[in-house]
Amino acid sequence: MADTSYMARKSVADIVGSADAEEGHALSKTLGATSITAMGIGAIIGAGIFVLTGTAAAQFAGPSIILSFVLGGIACAFVGLCYSELAAMLPVCGSSYTYTYATLGEIFAWIIGWDLILEYAMGAATVAVGWSGYIVSLLHNVGINIPPDLATAPGTIIKLPDGTTATGIINLPAIVIIAILTTMLVLGTKESARLNNVMVAVKLTVVVAFIALGVFFIKPANWHPFIPANTGEFGNFGMSGILRGSAVVFFAFIGFDAVSTAAQEAKKPQRDMPIGILGSLIICTILYILVAGVLTGLVPYAELNVPDPIAKGVDAIGLNWFSILIKIGALTGLTTVILVLLYGQSRIFFTMSTDGLLPPLFARVHPRLQTPHLSQILIGTVVAIVAALTPISVLGEMVSIGTLFAFILVCGAVIYLRRSDSDATRPFRVPGVPIVPVLGILFCLLLMAGLPLVTWVRLVVWLVIGMTIYISYGRNHSKLRFPERH
Ligand code: ALA
Repeated sequence: MADTSYMARKSVADIVGSADAEEGHALSKTLGATSITAMGIGAIIGAGIFVLTGTAAAQFAGPSIILSFVLGGIACAFVGLCYSELAAMLPVCGSSYTYTYATLGEIFAWIIGWDLILEYAMGAATVAVGWSGYIVSLLHNVGINIPPDLATAPGTIIKLPDGTTATGIINLPAIVIIAILTTMLVLGTKESARLNNVMVAVKLTVVVAFIALGVFFIKPANWHPFIPANTGEFGNFGMSGILRGSAVVFFAFIGFDAVSTAAQEAKKPQRDMPIGILGSLIICTILYILVAGVLTGLVPYAELNVPDPIAKGVDAIGLNWFSILIKIGALTGLTTVILVLLYGQSRIFFTMSTDGLLPPLFARVHPRLQTPHLSQILIGTVVAIVAALTPISVLGEMVSIGTLFAFILVCGAVIYLRRSDSDATRPFRVPGVPIVPVLGILFCLLLMAGLPLVTWVRLVVWLVIGMTIYISYGRNHSKLRFPERH
């Protein structure tokens, strides 16, 4: 007899069992701790550091954006430990959607799956807008000038170099990059993986070179005042500015959770998953703190509200060739992140569709290309439209709040499963449960509190739309609740 309650949950044993059963014909276990860490870094370093560091320093935190990164890093460390336990324990497609299905049940799994659209699809749109900023800047270096109103969301006021202003119409470069990457993903992923490794190496080199060269040109005066006085409004500098800054630059950490999706391909998931997740997180946190320190030391923070702040930092050094190199590095870096996010979104939809919560279209695989082509094209189209029409700050805040919400559920899942499935095999255990997951939840709530009210309202509206879809479709098609219909 099927369990038809909305709280129906998949059992841990079933999830692990189905993964074992698939092993023979599914993915090969080829990834070691180093490749998983590299994959994490590939997914993490992107628009957060290349774009949002500048805007957040200019608008919210000034040089104390460095502290915002420390705060964000601490929150992610707690969450990363929780992800490690779940990824090693449930080495399946590994998303928080699956974890929630096994713990809080279907309705919460749906909520998290719907919420993850904010992290993945909206995240891809955010990074595409960041890409647009850097390509316009790079093309300008080689004498090609894209009209700024054709590379900016409608209604956004753009300050032109001659002191006049223009109003954005549409972000065309963002559409172009999403179209190219969607086409690549439709055609196949094997080649993209190899290209991805090269691009990750390029972006790491560029980030390290920025720190190593920039450090010699820092003007310590730019770090004073380190925490600019609050303007009287919450989030505008001062302590609350550090908090709002960390809620915004939290975006820069997103991606370490994507590592968990590789659990099935890890040689020793119980060892490699925690190393990969925590290792990539630690490396990126250190790099971020250093980049933020160097950048705010090179340029007065008030001047960093530009689409390509790192390039602006390099311009302050006065090395034109290095500025071009930085832009190329940033573009490659941003490309890998968009690729991972678009890919991840289609795979999450795939799982949700095989569970019956989304229409079968999302699980349809092209017979020759072996990719979920229809889903990928649909995702690409929607992401391109959103990226073409929305400013990066609005997008980034939505992604942050959506991801923080998902992280809270993941921390909750660790506590819940320790009780409900206390004897399940846990190759990696979060130390100090429930203190560490509870700290994870509290830190995520703290960062969410730093986001503006309008972002909260948008999250609630988004979740209400999701519930409406679940009530009208998912609950009637769920495979777990109505196995006989499938
Ligand atoms: N962490 C990723 C970025 O910064 C999403 O672009």
